[in-house]
Amino acid sequence: MPHTWIVGASTGIGAALAVHLARAGHTVAVSARSAERLETLARESPVPGAIFPVPIDVRERASVEAAAASVFSRLSKLDYCFLNAGKYELSRDLIDPSVYEEVTRVNYLGVVECLAVVLPRMIQAGSGQVLITSSIAGYRGLPKAGAYGPTKAALISLAETLAVELKPAGVRVRVINPGFVRTPLTAKNRFPMPFLLEADEAACRIVRALPRRSFEIAFPWPMVMGMKLLRILPNRAYLSWVGKMVR
Ligand SMILES: NC(=O)c1ccc[n+]([C@@H]2O[C@H](COP(=O)([O-])OP(=O)(O)OC[C@H]3O[C@@H](n4cnc5c(N)ncnc54)[C@H](OP(=O)(O)O)[C@@H]3O)[C@@H](O)[C@H]2O)c1
Repeated sequence: MPHTWIVGASTGIGAALAVHLARAGHTVAVSARSAERLETLARESPVPGAIFPVPIDVRERASVEAAAASVFSRLSKLDYCFLNAGKYELSRDLIDPSVYEEVTRVNYLGVVECLAVVLPRMIQAGSGQVLITSSIAGYRGLPKAGAYGPTKAALISLAETLAVELKPAGVRVRVINPGFVRTPLTAKNRFPMPFLLEADEAACRIVRALPRRSFEIAFPWPMVMGMKLLRILPNRAYLSWVGKMVR
């Protein structure tokens, strides 16, 4: 029976993932700040007892260490760790450094804090898989994503580095790059979101991709292909295209 920890599991993709994995036979530790939502998720688990709550604030090292101790006291080994906590703010023309700092602390440094407690365990065991949720918004700079996009680009880069470095130790590091998914995070978007998926569908696609050998789990494919094409466009063509889109 696989042992799994999902950080960022109180709502959206993480919560849906917990339900799917519990159904698939995993024992799942679910973490986020909202203890009440985590308890509801555990209570309503499709398999009684398969989900248990472990509150965490990824911005605080002590909280991450306490959560890890609690997870490891319940789970003898860790097969999968989803680092999925995220915060999204539409950026404005004038940069507010405190917004950038907060988004970076959750999206990027929050993942780094979790890696610091999870990787030694997996390296010691010589096995385990870490899946970092980035975004296709990390492929290239997008308008209004000044605070969010760079954190996701940084996660893709970090995942690539760790995937290579940790392979000899038997630890797999992968990246999950979703397109638009209907969750509390995207509820603030006032623009059309092409190929929007429900959180349940996104979770389903992640679970289906788990046994595959791919480094990246990205969906839906029309959005992924479009963004990957933009990634290889020369800068001048890309910036001119994005400028037209904004106008
Ligand atoms: N929705 C999309 O279209 C989309 C697309 C690409 C990538 N993503 C990424 O997918 C991931 C999940 O997002 P979602 O769309 O499912 O949004 P969501 O429903 O808002 O989920 C975000 C999760 O992160 C947790 N979180 C936020 N701040 C935290 C903190 N300081 N400490 C611990 N947990 C924290 C939230 O729980 P609490 O508030 O209870 O702490 C929640 O469980 C994020 O990394 C997001 O960037 C989403």
